[in-house]
Amino acid sequence: MGSRSFCYVIVVMLCYIALFGVLNMGLAQTEDFPFYPSLFNTHNGKPARDSDFMPADKCKQCHQRIYEQWQGSMHANAYRDPVWQKLFEIGSRETKGKIDKFCIGCHAPAGLATGGLLSFSDMRSAGSLIRDGVQCDMCHSIAAGSADYTPTGVPGNASIILKPGPQKYGPYESNPMLMMMAGHQAVYSEMHTQSEFCANCHNMFNPENNHPLAATYNEWEDSIYAQKGIVCQDCHMVTAAEAFQVASSLKPIKKPGLASERSPRRDSIHDHLFVGGNFAISGMLGADKKARAARERLSKVATLELILPAAAPKGGVAEIKVKVTNVAAGHNLPTGMNELRQLWLEIFVRDAAGQVVFTSGEVDAAGNIDSKAVIFNARAVDKAGVPTFKPWKMDRLEYDRSIPAKESSTGAYKLNIPATAQGPLTVIAFLRYRSFPQSFIN
Ligand code: HEC
Ligand code: HEC
Ligand code: HEC
Ligand code: HEC
Ligand code: HEC
Repeated sequence: MGSRSFCYVIVVMLCYIALFGVLNMGLAQTEDFPFYPSLFNTHNGKPARDSDFMPADKCKQCHQRIYEQWQGSMHANAYRDPVWQKLFEIGSRETKGKIDKFCIGCHAPAGLATGGLLSFSDMRSAGSLIRDGVQCDMCHSIAAGSADYTPTGVPGNASIILKPGPQKYGPYESNPMLMMMAGHQAVYSEMHTQSEFCANCHNMFNPENNHPLAATYNEWEDSIYAQKGIVCQDCHMVTAAEAFQVASSLKPIKKPGLASERSPRRDSIHDHLFVGGNFAISGMLGADKKARAARERLSKVATLELILPAAAPKGGVAEIKVKVTNVAAGHNLPTGMNELRQLWLEIFVRDAAGQVVFTSGEVDAAGNIDSKAVIFNARAVDKAGVPTFKPWKMDRLEYDRSIPAKESSTGAYKLNIPATAQGPLTVIAFLRYRSFPQSFIN
């Protein structure tokens, strides 16, 4: 045991030196990006004042419906998320602060924008603008992207340029006169209507070797949804029921309504719900509506099909298969940090007397999933090939078994049928999901 953990520490040290050796040499990049390794920037490369931004509860005065939808979302909770805070703390400690700006760029962009949160130790004094995570002005002050500088030209690692001030970037045509009514101008931004906007934060790559670590946008780009012109907003800025309609019809829907309680009716507005699969943290932080909506999305995102033999020989071997199809997610299932998320099959086979003949994928008393379970996730490894959940150590994905959009993956099981079993056999299969493995939470 002792010598094994000793080896492990050496390996980690080597990674650490190699990673940051390269970062320090990348001077050109550091100059272009004052918050490197985050690609986040402000329009003049300088921190803005707190007062250059309007807090979310000010926007609420005129955009109440949108505010209430955003409140409790994982965007609103991106900073408050206790799992993020803990992993950030560990990362900051292990890298002596070198990754701090990277994590802050996506989870608490106001921290970089105002200079109020540049390292983990600043968290004690972070104000409400920072604590509100990805809030209104963080998205509606995005004036441009800087994806030109990413290795593949695809947005990622917070490749956004923020220009705070009276102009709000959004989907409507530019209107300087709005100033009189709204206290802010409206500037048309095509990017806000496209998946590339979300890709800025929903694509993450290792800055050292450009290997993708979270690739929701890339997965979407390879899917039928991208071919049909269905963007992230079409599924995540509508209700769960509407998102399923979009996924099955492969046609976006337009929702008419009011963008502000003080403006005329528009033919297209967007619910700022941003619900995904995270019911655990939403529930923990009191956003029960969001937790329910996440469960609703998960409950219909996939279909299961049992492929069974007509008969099973007593005392022999039977093969059963379970085919899982990702019918409603516009990307892989699971996506994003899919080395962390757990999507697995739980199977029970009982005979006519109720005797359990076979199980797979059960969770034990300590919270761990049966090691032989069929799990549709990815494995991230460090440079030495050791599996890790720590983004700053991840070198590459060793494998990725998440299920692409509209595709299937099949779990196969060989059952030894006891000679004493009484037919018929009943097979029950569940597809289960949780945000984190027990070992990670421990
Ligand atoms: C994660 C980024 C993000 C956050 C946070 C966000 N918005 Fe938006 N918002 C968008 C996008 C993207 C659109 C345009 C969607 C489209 O046209 O496809 C939009 C559209 C709008 C519109 C135009 C009307 C409509 O519904 O399309 C208004 C007004 C608006 N947002 C206000 C707000 C307010 C107020 C908040 C905070 C309570 C907020 N937004 C938070 C991304 C965001
Ligand atoms: C005093 C009222 C008022 C306040 C406060 C206000 N807005 Fe607006 N906003 C409006 C009105 C009115 C419109 C026009 C809606 C329309 O054209 O249908 C609008 C439009 C918008 C649009 C669409 C612009 C476009 O180009 O597509 C965005 C985005 C937006 N607001 C974001 C915000 C954000 C973010 C805040 C807080 C930082 C905010 N608003 C605060 C009244 C307000
Ligand atoms: C400024 C960065 C940023 C932008 C831009 C952004 N997001 Fe996010 N988003 C985040 C972060 C950070 C989280 C996760 C917070 C957490 O889990 O702690 C998140 C979470 C989410 C979730 C919930 C995920 C879950 O596990 O349930 C959804 C859904 C989502 N975003 C959709 C979108 C869509 C759609 C867009 C584009 C309209 C978008 N986001 C734009 C940073 C961003
Ligand atoms: C066809 C509809 C659809 C489209 C398009 C779509 N999504 Fe999703 N998304 C879903 C559904 C349904 C879920 C819930 C199941 C899950 O967690 O994967 C989800 C989950 C998520 C999650 C949470 C993942 C997890 O496992 O915790 C994130 C983050 C996300 N989407 C972001 C995006 C982004 C970014 C885009 C665009 C690049 C996008 N989505 C496009 C339907 C869609
Ligand atoms: C490019 C943007 C980006 C960067 C950089 C980033 N994150 Fe995230 N993070 C996200 C998004 C988006 C999600 C939620 C969706 C998903 O699963 O990918 C997320 C989710 C998480 C989660 C899971 C939270 C939950 O409740 O499920 C943790 C933990 C986390 N990030 C920690 C970190 C740490 C630590 C760093 C710095 C080493 C970091 N992140 C850097 C965008 C980012």
